[in-house]
Amino acid sequence: MTYPVITIDGPSGAGKGTLSLLLAKQYGFHLLDSGAIYRLGALAAKLLDVNIDDESAVANICQYLDVEFEPTESGVAVILNGQDVSQSLRTEEIGMMASTIAAYPSVREALVERQRSFARNPGLIADGRDMGTTIFPNANAKIFLTAGAEDRAKRRYNQLMEAGCEADYSQILADIEQRDLNDAGRAVSPLAPADDALLIDSSTMGIDEVCQTVVSHLQSLK
Ligand code: C5P
Repeated sequence: MTYPVITIDGPSGAGKGTLSLLLAKQYGFHLLDSGAIYRLGALAAKLLDVNIDDESAVANICQYLDVEFEPTESGVAVILNGQDVSQSLRTEEIGMMASTIAAYPSVREALVERQRSFARNPGLIADGRDMGTTIFPNANAKIFLTAGAEDRAKRRYNQLMEAGCEADYSQILADIEQRDLNDAGRAVSPLAPADDALLIDSSTMGIDEVCQTVVSHLQSLK
């Protein structure tokens, strides 16, 4: 049985998460935040004191992750080994570690079926880097959402300030640029738009305009 899948790919901080959440609510679809799965692999390796340079040990951890995603009002809570780790996943440190382990072919392979299993009734919004190219190549609609690195860094900086967290703009920009390089440069499933994806540059667009553009595109496909 196949269910409708809409893929939202793009670099860090382009607004994929917010867009995916809005679309999931609008259509009543499930949500796959595939970045959270790579972050979980990195966090689990850290908690188990496993060296993230050891590809096969990290792949083994990823294969057997004990994880659940529970819908909440503001998104999805991530439960690892029975503990809510939603906050610990979001640090820059874990983001960078996730980007490192995401370049390992055996880690990506270990996570393919787990990601595909999210496609279920009545449909799925899948957010990531390779949703449209590798995980769901037959998706019903594919979006590639991007924005300039500086725009993305500014948004991240503002989010952290609003949340009352400390933030260093130059460090955030450097991390975003490094992750772009890692994601676009890796040999397996590099960050790239699928041939049949709709490209949206959100540098000068608000999230409502982005969402409206996507909804109009989806309606045009019917
Ligand atoms: O999207 P997020 O920033 O949470 O992803 C963390 C890292 O996981 C990314 O920098 C990227 O390296 C990796 N990732 C990936 N493929 C995906 C989703 C995330 O390689 N589908």
